[in-house]
Parts: sequence; C-alpha cells; structure tokens
Amino acid sequence: MNHSFPTLTPDEAASLIKNGETIGFSGFTPAGAAKVVPKALAARAKAEHAAGRPFKVAVVTGASTGDSLDGELARAEAISWRTPYQSNKSLRDSINTGKTKFFDMHLSHLAQQVRCGFLGQFDWAVVEACDVTADGQIVLTTSVGAAPTFLRSAKKIIIELNRYHSTKLTGLHDIYEPLDPPHRQPIPIVRPTDRIGTPTVKVDPSKIVGIVETNAPDEVKGFEPADAVTDKIGQNVAEFLANEIAVGRIPRKFLPLQSGVGNIANAVLGALGANPDIPNFQMFSEVIQDSVIGLIRSGKIKFATGTSLTIAKELLDTIYQDIEFFRPRLLLRPQEITNNPELVRRLGIITINTAIEVDVFGNVNSTHIMGSNLMNGIGGSGDFTRNAYISIFTCPSSAKGGKISTIVPLVSHMDHSEHSVQVVITEHGVADLRGKDPVERAHLIVEKCADPIFRDQLMRYVRATEHGHTPQTLGNAFLMHQQFLKTGDMRGVVWQS
Ligand code: COA
Repeated sequence: MNHSFPTLTPDEAASLIKNGETIGFSGFTPAGAAKVVPKALAARAKAEHAAGRPFKVAVVTGASTGDSLDGELARAEAISWRTPYQSNKSLRDSINTGKTKFFDMHLSHLAQQVRCGFLGQFDWAVVEACDVTADGQIVLTTSVGAAPTFLRSAKKIIIELNRYHSTKLTGLHDIYEPLDPPHRQPIPIVRPTDRIGTPTVKVDPSKIVGIVETNAPDEVKGFEPADAVTDKIGQNVAEFLANEIAVGRIPRKFLPLQSGVGNIANAVLGALGANPDIPNFQMFSEVIQDSVIGLIRSGKIKFATGTSLTIAKELLDTIYQDIEFFRPRLLLRPQEITNNPELVRRLGIITINTAIEVDVFGNVNSTHIMGSNLMNGIGGSGDFTRNAYISIFTCPSSAKGGKISTIVPLVSHMDHSEHSVQVVITEHGVADLRGKDPVERAHLIVEKCADPIFRDQLMRYVRATEHGHTPQTLGNAFLMHQQFLKTGDMRGVVWQS
C-alpha cells in the first residue's frame, strides 16, 4: 500500500456528502459492500432530521448489500431512491410503504445506464478496496459489481480501505468496461476462463477525496441447511440435466452453469455436486455462493467466474489461506460482463433461478408477493434466463405452511414470460415446456409440479376454458390470490362460471 491520499474518519467522510446527492456504493450482495461510510451517513441523516433539516441521498449499488448500508440508511429514512436490487428487510419495508422510491432493473443494464446519464449525475463513488496506489490503481475486494463504472463516472471518490480483506486478492479481478454505442466492440470472451481486462481499476487520482481505513468482514449470512424439499428440488434438477446429457441434448462435455441466489440455489448446487452422472463443470454465474467453494475443492467445479464472492466469513478465511489453489479457479468480473446477454448466449449457459410463483403457462414472478409487495428484485435472473441454452426455474410447490400454491393460474406480477422459461422444477417433478403449446404446458405444470393438494383445483381451472390458444379465464385468474388476501389460504377455491 503506497498511497498519499488524506485519511478520513467515517464521520468526516460522511460530512462531505450533501442532501440530495447521488452515490454509487460498491457491493454486490454484502460482498465488497461499503460499510463504515454508509453507517456514518445514516447517523448524520438522523442528526439532520432531529435538527429539522431534510437529508436524503440516492443510493445505487451493484445489487443487494449488507445491513450497514441498506439497513442503516433505510432505518434512518435517508434513501430518496434506490436501484437496481436489494434484499434488506428494513429497506424492503421502506420501499413497500412508499418512503423510498425503487426501480427494479436487469443488473447487466446498470453500468451502461450510469455511463450514459440515464440515472443523472453521480456525485460520489464510495468503494471498498484492499489496496490503492498513489497513481489511482484500486484493487477491489470480494465483489466487482458496478464499482468500476461508479469510480469512473462519479465526480468524487471515497475509498474504504478494508484491511480485513487480503491484498492477495490482487489478480482475482478482471476489469473490463465496454465502449458505449456506437463504438461498442464484441466482448472477446469465448471461454469462461478468458481474461480480457486488468487486475485493478484505474482512476484519476485527483478525484480521490480521502481514504477511510477499516477492518471488517463482509456481512454475509450463512445458508439454512438444505431440507427435504430443497434437497428434492436439487435432485430433480441434477437428474433432469444428467438425462439431457444422456439423450444428447446437452453436449457430453457439459456446458457452463449459472445458479441463482438463496437457499434453494445453494441446495441445487450441492445436489449437482453429489450426482455422479453430472460431469465436472464450469460456472459462468453472477454470485459465487458457499457451495461452489466445496465443489471447487473436490474438483467437481473446475472454474467459477462471477461478480461476487458471497461467502460466509469462516469459509472466506480458508480461501485467503489457500489463495494459490483458488487463484486459477476463481475470477471476478463486472456485472456488465458476467450477466452480458451476448456472452450468455454465445457460451451456451444453462441457467437455474428461483421463482416466487409460476403460472400454469410458464410465466414467472421472481419479485413480488401477491402482486404488490416487492421481495428483492429481478437481479440477474432476466439477463440469464432470456439468453440461456436451457432456462430452468425452481421453487417449492407451496409456501407459508402449504396455504399458498406457488403454481397459480396467472402470476400476480410477471418478470419472465413463457417465451423465456423452458423448464419448471419443484420437489414433485419436472415440467419440460420446450416445444409445448399453452394447453400442454398447463397440463404438464399442474401434473408434474403443483402441490397435490392444489392439483384438482388447478386442473379444474385449466379445463374450464377450452377455447382459444391459451385457456385463460380472466374472471378467475386471480381468485386464488384474492382468496388468500381475504382468508390467508389459497386452498378450496370455487371457480366462478
Ligand atoms: N407467495 C408468498 N410468499 C412466498 C411465495 C409466494 N408464492 N413464495 C415464497 N414466499 C416467501 C417464503 O415463504 C419466504 O418467506 P419468509 O422470508 O417470510 O420465510 C420468502 O418468500 C423467501 O422464500 P425462500 O423460499 O426462502 O426463497 P429464497 O431464499 O430461495 O429466495 C427469491 C427466492 C425468488 C426471493 C430469490 O431467489 C430472488 O430474490 N430472486 C430474484 C433475483 C434472482 O433470481 N437473482 C439471481 C440471478 S443470478
């Protein structure tokens, strides 16, 4: 470390930020997220509010972050608008009660929209680093996300120099920003392992206002242990893919995988690792979760690239201890590259994401509960699904103790249409929708994927309308949701004729 920038306390850094400014914070999941400056900013906002003065800032990140950022700022009522993704309870409440404006965005779109001014001027980039040099070369930590673009686009920069992260991370990043249209060139990645950029982000050093020294781990929570339902979903995914290889629809050497976020995604990867009929594979994904690390150690995963290492603290410590083993096997890229539609289509990525609900025709809701309340956001699921070699959605067949069917007549919010969704998998089975018309899809999804308690009810819905290309009955399409909102239970719906 050989920088000559002023050292600031978190409070001094926060005091430089003004009401109404826009900040690009590093972080993609809690990995690599700014931690101490947002916390100090939240304290400042509370003090300003107590003194009767307004104080809110616009917060843009790579995706979700840790509680020190989204949680603290939301509880301080300090976020005017927020994009592109979040998963924090306090922020979710602030969004769903209208205190924070949130717009949900495909994560691959963010960097270009920032560069092209669609989101207005960025006043600050507040970015976590494990090293910075006097000439402005920044080594990021456990995520890349959109940090390179924030650093380049913002007027001023504050660096959180986090000594918890090992400087041995140097070389794990591949930083590349495409030129914007009409000057864009093809992104020259033809194999997941190809490096096309630089290990550091180079910025104009005169923009660096100060360095805040910290020593804090990422606020990554561990996963729920897999249960019988998530285990079965994982096994169904593994068996489906093994069969696709056996019948020749997936090449014998296999194709790179993308796997989504959350407990189910973690269990799916575990099941793929345990299935002897799944060959060793590469990951071309967004988030690298805990289960990937064990599979890299066992040799099942040969290489994994993503935009964040979202790994529980104890496991991350073991990676730092064994960094020479992991260096050729892990690569972090900007989200604009990991989620790039051009690359997902070219490399033939098999995508596995989680749905909140799926309708009988294969439309998927990934983001909203009962049509109105935001859960997290679309994240990268659309970037991958729309461009996949095979796109898979998984979910348990029911939620909330069996009172909610995740298979419904019509999704209450749509993120991925039937045109992008090819395979739906629950703990009960696999609905392979490829080459099927809407009537065939509806029968397959209900028979293979729905909870047996809801199957008759759903089949009666499907059979009620036998005319038209898509057997939809508009008057009944949301009856299951409406009944849940009234009674807390979707079971026993009586369809209106
Ligand atoms: N109706 C109401 N609530 C539902 C529901 C439904 N149809 N389906 C799930 N839920 C509830 C669950 O009960 C649970 O509630 P709780 O937090 O009160 O326990 C919550 O939603 C989360 O469900 P869970 O089964 O634990 O899901 P998860 O951790 O696997 O996450 C998503 C699922 C869909 C929320 C998550 O994958 C996501 O945000 N996806 C969108 C972004 C994405 O796909 N990114 C990956 C791209 S790389």
